[in-house]
Amino acid sequence: MALVAPSILSADFSKLGEDVREVVAMGADWVHVDVMDGAFVPNLTIGPIVVKAIKPSAGKAMLDVHLMIEGPDRYVGEFRDAGADLISVHAEACPHLHRSIQAIRATGAKVGVALNPHTPPEVLDWVLDELDLVLCMSVNPGFGGQSLVPAVFGKVERIRKEIDRRGLSTLIEVDGGVKPENAARFTAAGAHVLVAGSAVFGAKDRRAAIDALRAA
Ligand code: DX5
Ligand code: ZN
Repeated sequence: MALVAPSILSADFSKLGEDVREVVAMGADWVHVDVMDGAFVPNLTIGPIVVKAIKPSAGKAMLDVHLMIEGPDRYVGEFRDAGADLISVHAEACPHLHRSIQAIRATGAKVGVALNPHTPPEVLDWVLDELDLVLCMSVNPGFGGQSLVPAVFGKVERIRKEIDRRGLSTLIEVDGGVKPENAARFTAAGAHVLVAGSAVFGAKDRRAAIDALRAA
């Protein structure tokens, strides 16, 4: 069974706590939080104070914080203190990726590295053993509601093969354009965690959307 991580980017920010509580009550395994800085990606979203505010609403669901920001090492401590259980940084935003991984690890949070659609998985060759999660972007990061970049399926397969070859328990998360209709293709390629923003928060029946994603 896939783990389902609704992305709050598509939630109603005027009642964010309520929306988070709702999807967790409906069975969301993780709550995915998209942090954007207007520099690494062309959009601005939220910071640690919002993570702190929604933490109680997330209950037992993991707070999965996706940092689409430059120089993320500066903020990982604050996000951890705010309640992040897992923190992912972008390989493209980290010239010293191994140091960034260590910075997250030092906070006690689980460690993820995200890759943009064009970034070859080989950038992880020398750090893969240090990771809890590889976040494979299936759209160019910055916005919810985009269509997926199909090349991601082959990339997920390649990463999954390498994780299995090394005997690791690293999870693969896919993020962007994930819908009940295509979720099975992601899991067949090797993804364990499905992030879905518009497909969950935009659905008439959010519970059915979460169930359909999980069943993939
Ligand atoms: C995109 C974000 C995603 C986004 C996904 O930059 O990282 O998490 O919210 O939204 P959907 O599922 O609508 O593509
Ligand atoms: Zn995301």
